[in-house]
Amino acid sequence: MRTQVGIIGAGPAGLLLSHLLHLRGISSVVLERRSRDYVERRVRAGVLEQGTVDTLVEAGVGDRMLREGLVHHGIELRYGGSGHRIPFEKLVPGRAITVYGQQEVVKDLIAARLEAGGDVRFEVEDVEVHSLEAAPYLTFGGERLDCEVIAGCDGFHGISRPAIPSGELTYFEREYPFAWLGILARVAPSSEELIYSRTERGFALHSMRSPTISRFYLQVPPDASLDDWPDERIWAELKARLESVPGFTLSTGEIVEKGVTPMRSFVAEPMQYGRLYLAGDAAHIVPPTGAKGLNLAVADVRVLTEALDLFFRTGSAELLDGYSAACLKRVWRAQHFSWWMTTLLHTFESDDAYGRRLQLSYLDYVTSSEAAATTLAENYVGMPW
Ligand code: PHB
Repeated sequence: MRTQVGIIGAGPAGLLLSHLLHLRGISSVVLERRSRDYVERRVRAGVLEQGTVDTLVEAGVGDRMLREGLVHHGIELRYGGSGHRIPFEKLVPGRAITVYGQQEVVKDLIAARLEAGGDVRFEVEDVEVHSLEAAPYLTFGGERLDCEVIAGCDGFHGISRPAIPSGELTYFEREYPFAWLGILARVAPSSEELIYSRTERGFALHSMRSPTISRFYLQVPPDASLDDWPDERIWAELKARLESVPGFTLSTGEIVEKGVTPMRSFVAEPMQYGRLYLAGDAAHIVPPTGAKGLNLAVADVRVLTEALDLFFRTGSAELLDGYSAACLKRVWRAQHFSWWMTTLLHTFESDDAYGRRLQLSYLDYVTSSEAAATTLAENYVGMPW
């Protein structure tokens, strides 16, 4: 079997890449270890930057997102007993975010790939990459797929990055002394916009998926187990951390999904070795506080599509050679922003009273200085693509 681009992973990065390549007349095969049902149900983040929205619309996979996605023009920072709105319409006019679940993006992309006759294979076993320096190929389940280029879109725990010879990549990493416990609940959001709440008990985030489904996160210890978090405890803690301003009551409902996400910052450089190109979480991870992970993956895929288009049309590897550097600029901006939002809003056990005062003072600055609030807003909605 032969294809132009062998794509490992049917998450948003792999599926979108396959679809964008198809629109340019470039063939690809997507190999996914999990089942279709599994990837369509995998609950992840849900904040799309304008550049991500535009990319999906231009690719013809944005109809349901435009119908069902929630456009937000601000977020709230809650701390010290009051809420402070960061008004995007004033600070970054014309720019907004769309709240639409990552698994909905994945469902739309799979539907589009299959409708266009795309080759997406689920539950594929033992995927391995070979001969990355020249004439690369993939093997899986006893089959061989010859490719001109391989795209590693298989996430942080995937097989592509570790297949690169050791010493070829440099890793940059930071682990945080906490994790996020995330839930999806059948209850109308208690607020129209997202609330990022910093309290002495730890951080909490109120997000949403639709007018009837809310999404919440709690900062928990890094080794937290769901066994320690029965539903009543989750609601009690969310109330304690979100009902911190007068007059705000959190509505509760049936919890339909629960999970613990570790918090990590990670970058592998360069995002390429031989004919293997890494995109999305396979190359970099950000803590979810800045809502950047999915958006970075989409941005990588856009850059890679342009580079592959030039390569297959003209034989020029000029853009492919610049792929990593072009992506890493945006990746590092998002790394800084995500780290900054994380340190601003979480409680660190290692922090003394002085450290906590500094954090509160910084929050006061961000919510009272237009320049500082604009820095937050323009990073949150995303730099123009
Ligand atoms: C989400 O809705 O899942 C979400 C929103 C904002 C974040 C992270 C996650 O910063």
